[in-house]
Amino acid sequence: MSVVNQNSRNITDLSPKQDDMFTNVINGLTSNPKTIAPKYLYDELGSKLFEKITDLDEYYQTRTEFDILNQSHVSITKLMGKDVDLIELGSGSSTKTHVLLDEANLNSYMPIDISTTILTSTVDQLEKDYPMLKIHGILADYTQAFSLPELGGNKKVVFFPGSTIGNFEPFEEAMFLKQLSNTLDKGDGLLIGLDLRKDKHIIEKAYNDKQGITAAFNKNLLTRINRELHADFQLENFYHHAYYNVEKSRLEMHLVSNVKQTVHLQDHKIDFAENENIHTENSYKYSINSFQKLCMKCGFKPVEVFEDKNKWFSVHYLEVM
Ligand code: AVI
Repeated sequence: MSVVNQNSRNITDLSPKQDDMFTNVINGLTSNPKTIAPKYLYDELGSKLFEKITDLDEYYQTRTEFDILNQSHVSITKLMGKDVDLIELGSGSSTKTHVLLDEANLNSYMPIDISTTILTSTVDQLEKDYPMLKIHGILADYTQAFSLPELGGNKKVVFFPGSTIGNFEPFEEAMFLKQLSNTLDKGDGLLIGLDLRKDKHIIEKAYNDKQGITAAFNKNLLTRINRELHADFQLENFYHHAYYNVEKSRLEMHLVSNVKQTVHLQDHKIDFAENENIHTENSYKYSINSFQKLCMKCGFKPVEVFEDKNKWFSVHYLEVM
């Protein structure tokens, strides 16, 4: 672990030194069906486009979760207790956290993010906004095991908003929850946001917005691969396709080749048939019951669930058993 005090900023660098994007992308593009891991959607532009998505009218998730947190903050902060070290996974600009930073009884706040740029600017801003609070940024890929620095609070509460866990495959989700409960101590908390199953048209609209921001977010993956891995994807030869797979309870995002073509990635040739897909993301939608059952198997006891009036989104408070 290296503690980087970048220009006096309080940031610990636990980021993986190597992510073999080239090998992962080649393996994905030469498998059948073709896939690329969703984590590669988030380069600098991808992260900015995702922030824009969260403001879209069609993308109900972010504002619904925000409303739930605002409406239920009294109960939530009571459950969290006193003198808490609040740890946020994939904190981004920490916008959703303000209600907790304002209302909860905190010893410290630990935002964890994989992007140095976003983390440093967030830590800078938060230090200005909350001069009395210990802020300690962690640069890390929170899907991989890492140990948390001790910040001296009474207990830890992990905040994992945005239904980001829905982008994990079921086996990854279970591994992640087990790893998290092992990292924490008995009685520590998990506050997690989950998108719920609902009319598929509402979900599909959220991933096919009129302005085409989600399409740009998806296609930016090809721009990134062209730039970073020296490929020659022609962007106009692919289109964004997002639909709800009812059987698997997940929104699937794909890039579809609209012609028969060959793409070059360094010395590899990748053939696409007309209408062939690259599967770029799954976003699983939940039932409260099945999530709670999974949590029980992974070391967490469900304590309380907060929902909006339409039952579109849920925020769960769980405790390590
Ligand atoms: C980050 N994650 C929860 C988003 C989702 O809804 O699955 C990513 C996203 N993909 C397209 N739009 C938003």
